[in-house]
Amino acid sequence: MDLKENIHIDKLPKHIAIIMDGNGRWAKQKGMLRAFGHENGTKAVRETVEASAELGVENLTLYAFSTENWNRPKLEVQTLMKLLVSSLKKEIKTLQDNNIKLSAIGNLNTLPKKVYKELHEVINSTKSNNRMTLTLALSYGSREEILNTVKEISIKVKKNIISPDKIDESIINEHLYTQNLPDVDLLIRTSGEQRISNFLLWQIAYAELYFTNILWPDFKKKHLYEAIIEYQKRERRFGKTSEQLS
Ligand code: IPE
Ligand code: IPE
Ligand code: MG
Repeated sequence: MDLKENIHIDKLPKHIAIIMDGNGRWAKQKGMLRAFGHENGTKAVRETVEASAELGVENLTLYAFSTENWNRPKLEVQTLMKLLVSSLKKEIKTLQDNNIKLSAIGNLNTLPKKVYKELHEVINSTKSNNRMTLTLALSYGSREEILNTVKEISIKVKKNIISPDKIDESIINEHLYTQNLPDVDLLIRTSGEQRISNFLLWQIAYAELYFTNILWPDFKKKHLYEAIIEYQKRERRFGKTSEQLS
């Protein structure tokens, strides 16, 4: 039986986030340069976006470049940025045809001008699409995001726009980069690493975590289906007892 048929469409995660890891190791295994891994990683992005939209997942967030990734060799950073511009150019039609809205989170001002410009063009031209929101985390760091939130709220407190005793979780949510997104239900990380690497720390508070040894360029639709099937087998108790849920 097709794996996809084992997925309960009425119990899909509303928000899937993915730490796309393992491009470098994939290339190394093939005796190729890291850039080759990144290029092939874009194919896995396409597979995942397509599979998610076909299933009816409403929100997909992909970790594409972290604040820490700026510390990689200059040439690798340049390659990643170039790849980003070319992928955006290439995929805009697919996003339109599939009614997918592109969004981005992170310290976007630190991106090279060309990337920033292309990114905003695609965001702008897909803003009325409503089948799925695809969010790219670019120059993203969760601690930096939380820090900005604290600063913005502090300024509003100082200006008497917000009173300190009115600060609650929803106010914090409104100030995070992820504003309009629901909490993450399923977090996937490829390549066998079992860490979060400064990704969506606040938003994954109750996410189900799924780690796979597959290296990102090898990630195919069936791997996404496997992750969702595993997610659907878990009991999300949110602090309650199992009996309370049934
Ligand atoms: C993920 O693959 C892509 C980015 C972090 C940009 P890596 O480049 O981290 O691949 P490994 O972890 O070295 O194999
Ligand atoms: C996390 O991968 C960031 C992205 C996938 C963009 P890294 O490969 O940078 O993570 P660490 O440094 O090994 O934790
Ligand atoms: Mg890595």
